[in-house]
Amino acid sequence: MSEARDTIGLVTSVILSSKNPTAVKAEALVVATAQTSDGVAVVSDQLPTDLLTQLESLAPQLGVTGARDEVRKIPAGPKLAVDVLVLTGLGERAEDGTFATETLRRAAGAATRELAGLRSAAIALPASDDDEITAVTEGALLGAYVFNRYRTTGRSTEKEAAKDAAKDARNRKDPVAAIEILTPLHKNAKAKVVAERAQVVAAAVHAARDLVNTAPNELYPATFADAAKAAAKDVRHVKVTVLDDKQLASGGYGGLTAVGQGSARGPRLVKVAYTPAKPNGKVALVGKGITFDSGGISIKPAAGMEAMKSDMAGAAAVLSTVVAAAKLNLPLAITGYLCLAENMPGGNAQRPADVVTIYGGKTVEVLNTDAEGRVVMADGLVSAVEDGHDVVLDIATLTGAQVVALGTRTSAVMGTDTVRDEVKAAADASGELFWPMPLPEELKSNIKSKVADVANSGPRWGGMLNAGLFLQTFVGDHPWAHLDIAGPAFNDGGAHGYTPGGGTGVGVRTLLGFLEGRAAAEKAEK
Ligand code: BES
Ligand code: MN
Ligand code: ZN
Repeated sequence: MSEARDTIGLVTSVILSSKNPTAVKAEALVVATAQTSDGVAVVSDQLPTDLLTQLESLAPQLGVTGARDEVRKIPAGPKLAVDVLVLTGLGERAEDGTFATETLRRAAGAATRELAGLRSAAIALPASDDDEITAVTEGALLGAYVFNRYRTTGRSTEKEAAKDAAKDARNRKDPVAAIEILTPLHKNAKAKVVAERAQVVAAAVHAARDLVNTAPNELYPATFADAAKAAAKDVRHVKVTVLDDKQLASGGYGGLTAVGQGSARGPRLVKVAYTPAKPNGKVALVGKGITFDSGGISIKPAAGMEAMKSDMAGAAAVLSTVVAAAKLNLPLAITGYLCLAENMPGGNAQRPADVVTIYGGKTVEVLNTDAEGRVVMADGLVSAVEDGHDVVLDIATLTGAQVVALGTRTSAVMGTDTVRDEVKAAADASGELFWPMPLPEELKSNIKSKVADVANSGPRWGGMLNAGLFLQTFVGDHPWAHLDIAGPAFNDGGAHGYTPGGGTGVGVRTLLGFLEGRAAAEKAEK
């Protein structure tokens, strides 16, 4: 990852301001539209009435319906100080006349996605309380994300590149450079705090997306470990320790060792520990970090294999979440365990029928080398439980069965009932789609091994639950939840709302929401 490349695809700055949308100066002004019983309404009471009337009556000709995910750009005309007006749809109002915060988040993101290449934009969406400011700020930043690291300008000299920087940014559609969010609360202290938080959250999601989008020839266990160190550098109270392949082998981490041994690039276990001065709770986050999943000897079909660069999305979410929690000064000790390996069919690769010993001593019969995630996660989970946390959460692109069951946009959560429900509530509040799944006792026979304590794969049916039950073997009855993000972690299709194509950064907001909830609850108890 060269430095020159890292300077491309820059971040978007945000400020809150109370300027009137009519007077605000920017290249674009974003305004919401809504569906009403008799057509389209522009959701703004500050734009000139004649402009509102004109927009609403011309809506059919403009193709504006106010539907969700609909974005239209039109010339702003002489009444406004901006060049372009961007209309973003919110759909229908709820019974109480408001819009769900997730609707605002998506509409803001759908709009900023269309602003790539611009220098400045003002956003006049509903932002009159903390939740709305959070949603609009998060959505705007999440939608502004662009991954341009591998796109060159085609200019060969630095001088030329410097001269044409603005032009290149437009052509390459870099993220909109500066956003001004219009809100009556721009001077309110709490509003500033929530806007700051939203920026930390968005930066964390962006960092997770960047890792997922990075090509797997560049991002492998050793460079992922470097990325973890770089991300934690200068972040107070965060320490990164790395176990390399030799230390893993001699330390008894048989899962990571077995999965990693088919690759020329050895596995790593990275611990990212955030330890604030007076923590009032201790949480472990374990992430699956398969930097490329070829399937190993049980090799995957060629079609679609490229998406398996995203098989480290769980570890990326964990790293980003711990760093964000530290930046937000949460009063919780949090340790991230990044289980990093590359699953390749090299000459030393593990075979179906191999028996490996997980950290702590339990044995696993490897029936399918493509069920590698659970094998590396087993090492991480035992290690996390051993370290004595109040609760252990794990997050992984674990099973194709997750995608079959819930599709590409809804993740699954299973585990100890109360922790599972706590994760689901955090997901709901953050705007991420998660759905609870059971871990039926009677399916345990699916992962019985004829020779070892447990087998790493079983029958196809209930594949997501089999994987969950496998992980459960290694946490015992410790408070725990398992998040399977196989489908939602990587968007193979077109962008929607604030979600771009490629890495989505899913899980970061839910994990962070969970931690914030814990931090607040633990505090209240004291
Ligand atoms: N990384 C995959 C799961 C996956 C599939 C993630 C599709 C994202 C999209 C995992 O390692 C895997 O290959 N699982 C197998 C397990 C099976 C062999 C028991 C699967 O789900 O097919
Ligand atoms: Mn696999
Ligand atoms: Zn995998």
